[in-house]
Amino acid sequence: MKDAPAQPKRRRSGRARLLLGGVCAAAIAVSSVALVNFAYADLSGPPGTTLKAAAERSGRYFGAAMGGDRLNDSGFLTIANREFDMMTAVNEMKPDATEPNSGQFTFTAGDAIYTWATQHGMRVRGHTLAWHAQQPRFWAGLSGSSLRTAMIEHINGVMAHYKGKLAYWDVVNEAFAENGSRRQSNLQNTGNDWIEAAFRTARTADPSVKLCYNDYNIENWTYAKTQGVYNMIKDFKTRGVPIDCVGLQTHFTGGSSLPSNFQTTLSSFAALGVDVALTEADVTNASTTQYAGLTQACANVPRCVGITTWGIRDSDSWRGSENPLLFDRNSNPKPAYTSVLNALNTATTTVPGTSTSPSTPVSTPPSSPSSSPPSSPPGSPSASGQPGACTATFRMVNTWDGGFQGEVTVANNGSATINGWTVRLTLAGGQSIANIWNGVNTGTSGAVTVRNAAYNATVGANASTTFGFLVNGSTGTAPGIGACTSP
Ligand code: XIL
Repeated sequence: MKDAPAQPKRRRSGRARLLLGGVCAAAIAVSSVALVNFAYADLSGPPGTTLKAAAERSGRYFGAAMGGDRLNDSGFLTIANREFDMMTAVNEMKPDATEPNSGQFTFTAGDAIYTWATQHGMRVRGHTLAWHAQQPRFWAGLSGSSLRTAMIEHINGVMAHYKGKLAYWDVVNEAFAENGSRRQSNLQNTGNDWIEAAFRTARTADPSVKLCYNDYNIENWTYAKTQGVYNMIKDFKTRGVPIDCVGLQTHFTGGSSLPSNFQTTLSSFAALGVDVALTEADVTNASTTQYAGLTQACANVPRCVGITTWGIRDSDSWRGSENPLLFDRNSNPKPAYTSVLNALNTATTTVPGTSTSPSTPVSTPPSSPSSSPPSSPPGSPSASGQPGACTATFRMVNTWDGGFQGEVTVANNGSATINGWTVRLTLAGGQSIANIWNGVNTGTSGAVTVRNAAYNATVGANASTTFGFLVNGSTGTAPGIGACTSP
């Protein structure tokens, strides 16, 4: 693909939009639910009738990007809430938005998106920490070691704020040129090791979040830029530079349509030991075949963990005149929506670690061929549920005016695996559960019973699992925790 096109021209972000989002968010505290893995695979289940349900069948997510102005757009929010389980801020977590002046961090606009998304059961992708575009204005006056230091301080400042809360961070965005060499930029001029410096800083700043490199025009396996990025990831893996994922933006335009080797690209990156994701998908005129094809490619690669479209409706798109998204301006799903949904529902690979299969790796490595099965410790009963073998412990994760986020750890203190658990909670008057994950509740106020979800029934000896919930109500009074029983 010699003539891979330039990106559609970027519009500068509107400060007015950022401010609008900021005002709405002023009174909202940031909660932290993002690390919960909502998606668990169950390919035997019925087809999903929403994008997220169809993606979750195979342990994947389906994401969207939103700007702060969409927080006042009920049409957008309705679809987002119904169809998506991952959210990216369009501009609000970028360097110019989060550190407008040196050392002066502002997270109001990013937090507003984060809070809305997590309160609606979504996880959040952080986007982005180091990029040649949308930089703080003061970076323009820096170079060499002072710019390198500013970048590192920026990563530390932003990641400290979101520590433990995000599923992924696009640590570095768009650092390669079309010919496969590094893109010329002020950051590149600080030294060729600037990307690994960014990733090392990021790992230390928040070891819980997956660290991604993100770029466009890296979808075609034989394209020079794809190879340039591939070689960098390979080098990082070889030398132990921390990196967990590659984001392929997947902006398909008239000149860079879906390549037939897209799946090869995804599986080749994945074979390096990183997750891959389609992070900003949009396709000129929302070609059904291209949307089906890009979805199919992801669904065929186990480590392709999810797809994000850059907006929801054509009216949300940065390329709006190309009508490149899955919903039209009247919020109706377009034919491409159906092709994506169908492709997700026919996935045959699941994301590693999301299987519901009970035969997950609890037992011995296959080193002793014909020896008897792993024996229980002397004197213990054979491995099955022991009634009463679990304990439940509550933790207040976050409180805000009008509610709180709680987490209960279900621990198996016994010596045998338990299969199934139930925890009883008592909520204070006026409180009700708004949202719960990793557990299934009966009742939302007063005495509430929470059972395991389909995928976390099994808890090994001395192991634990957690479920979380959001409560609406005037106080942050912790619920009473009753007995944990099993099964
Ligand atoms: C775009 C936003 O959508 C616009 O609102 C903004 O004016 C420019 O940036 N690649 C990226 C995204 O990584 O951050 C870009 O987002 C689109 C291209």
